[in-house]
Amino acid sequence: TALKASFAPKLQPRNMSTNQLQPQASFKVAVLGAAGGIGQPLSLLIKMSPLISALHLYDIADVKGVAADLSHCNTPSHVLDFTGQDQLANCLKGVDVVVIPAGVPRKPGMTRDDLFNVNANIVKTLVEAVADNAPDAFIHIISNPVNSTVPIAAEVLKQKGVYDPKKLFGVTTLDVVRANTFVAQKKNLKLIDVDVPVIGGHAGITILPLLSKTRPLVTFTDEEVKELTVRIQNAGTEVVEAKAGAGSATLSMAYAAARFVESSLRALDGDGDVYECSFVQSELTELPFFASRVKLGKKGVEAVISSELQGLTEYESKALEALKAELKASIEKGVTFVKKKA
Ligand code: NAI
Repeated sequence: TALKASFAPKLQPRNMSTNQLQPQASFKVAVLGAAGGIGQPLSLLIKMSPLISALHLYDIADVKGVAADLSHCNTPSHVLDFTGQDQLANCLKGVDVVVIPAGVPRKPGMTRDDLFNVNANIVKTLVEAVADNAPDAFIHIISNPVNSTVPIAAEVLKQKGVYDPKKLFGVTTLDVVRANTFVAQKKNLKLIDVDVPVIGGHAGITILPLLSKTRPLVTFTDEEVKELTVRIQNAGTEVVEAKAGAGSATLSMAYAAARFVESSLRALDGDGDVYECSFVQSELTELPFFASRVKLGKKGVEAVISSELQGLTEYESKALEALKAELKASIEKGVTFVKKKA
């Protein structure tokens, strides 16, 4: 159970009288891009967390209604709305976790990299404001291409002199959620028990599920490994095609992002047993950023778990070597983007 992350939103706030005896944690969370396809259900899910006292919702448009609507849920957190660049600083002051799902999603036929031009600028601008107003916050980057937007965020934070690599996360939780679901279906396992680490990055072949490290222990034929790996890598595209122009994954993404927020808050609250996969600055490979399981603590990444990269199957080792060139190029594209603008 040590490695199992749990996300169990509470539909009811805790009993008030118990609250007075045992004060609740009171973290503040900001969602930037809160009126979007991901932002809305994500804000709803995190509104249910008993660990949050304030939820700050920011978007360039339409966020007032989302906040008014959510504020009627009788769960503990206060909801505040912030619209447009002038209100961004106030949105960020004093927050513990900033989640960024702002930006355009894919349409059929597009890769995540096709979003670079628009989303790179959005992430750069937002992270500049985070650096100025919430330099100690955990930053969760959802906006794609994550393989480039996380390095962009790192460069911006470096330029501002506030980069703490332990607190910058690319959200790859959806890859883990998908891997767990597909493996449970294929092997007839109880979903709640299944845990598949997913390493590398968050686009196409850079997404590498380590099926040999699945818990509980389960064996796969070579065909099953290939089929499951390809399905996990293309799961985002499955949704993009099914939505046929109306966007990409939003509901499953909101669920996954809410799980990552909940894990971060539990870590901030002193729980010493919180593990998640995330795309972070890393020395696990020769690449400067890499997704793997990490242990979360009060100060962010407490440890990068290296054991899961040992004893890989031949299929996994080859896939790991094969993803490095693409991931390296995506990381460099992000770094260059910020350096050129400096
Ligand atoms: P959406 O278009 O429905 O929502 C995006 C929201 O961002 C909109 O409300 C828009 O007004 C807002 N926005 C745009 N520019 C902004 C700015 N400068 N400041 C603040 N807000 C701004 O898109 P959706 O479906 O919510 O996707 C958002 C992003 O998440 C996309 O880049 C998508 O590729 C990415 N994504 C990431 C996944 C992951 O696993 N990391 C999975 C699925 C999507």
